[in-house]
Amino acid sequence: MTRLAGKSALITGAARGIGRAFAEAYIREGARVAIADIDIARAEQTAGELGPAAFAVAMDVTDQTSIDAGVARVIAQFGQIDILINNAALFTAAPIAEIERADYDRVFNINVAGTLFVMQAVARHMIEAGIRGRIINMASQAGRRGEPLVAVYCASKAAVISLTQSAGLNLIEHGINVNAIAPGVVDGEHWDGVDAFFAKYEGKAPGQKKREVGDAVPYGRMGRAEDLTGMAIFLASDEADYIVAQTYNVDGGNWLS
Ligand SMILES: NC(=O)c1ccc[n+]([C@@H]2O[C@H](COP(=O)([O-])OP(=O)(O)OC[C@H]3O[C@@H](n4cnc5c(N)ncnc54)[C@H](O)[C@@H]3O)[C@@H](O)[C@H]2O)c1
Repeated sequence: MTRLAGKSALITGAARGIGRAFAEAYIREGARVAIADIDIARAEQTAGELGPAAFAVAMDVTDQTSIDAGVARVIAQFGQIDILINNAALFTAAPIAEIERADYDRVFNINVAGTLFVMQAVARHMIEAGIRGRIINMASQAGRRGEPLVAVYCASKAAVISLTQSAGLNLIEHGINVNAIAPGVVDGEHWDGVDAFFAKYEGKAPGQKKREVGDAVPYGRMGRAEDLTGMAIFLASDEADYIVAQTYNVDGGNWLS
């Protein structure tokens, strides 16, 4: 299918995981995709595997100079950016009494400031070029409610939902739709890290937390990155033109809202 034919997309954190799956899906739908990541070696490997419609761009979403240079590089390569997915993020966990300020700063810099300032850089380009663009932010079920060991990450994803609402309401006057996707539990390298945190703080065996959260999903299993691609394509497509400032759960039924 070619629902995104002729479109150019920038996806942050696309070297692996969900971002990579989005890039593959967008290319299947006819788009060209910039694989932006702090891990440029992995981004280049991924772009090479995805073929000529993909190219790798170095971007640290916590560094304004890197954001500006990366966005300029993508515009130089593609001519314009029609779609942005703010996907780069970091997970962390700790009981309240053990949270370290440096860890809070690191996670909020990537998950919140990174989302805001990449969105700003791309929105400025879209406004200036008169592009009726699409911006998709990656939230999480973690942003819907707190969890005892996950205060910082949960708060960062609640902030992403809030930023999506404010930016969505502000940018629609320029014809730019901003929405978000809230996944539940998606298997992959990210969740290997989450599992290790729960092994540490809840004394679980490696892999045990993954099995427990998978069994608890109403659908009956953990998500796969591919389970999210339909929503990412839809929100970037013409069919989603009247959808503004929303966050959609794609989580096998974990969270009802
Ligand atoms: N996996 C899940 O269960 C799950 C659930 C809910 C939400 N999400 C969200 O979905 C998104 C993708 O998750 P994932 O599972 O693919 O994660 P992942 O950890 O596998 O991938 C994250 C990518 O972001 C990159 N990155 C990290 N810091 C960066 C920085 N400063 N600048 C640029 N890139 C940076 C990493 O190199 C990596 O390629 C994230 O926003 C995550 O919070 C994931």
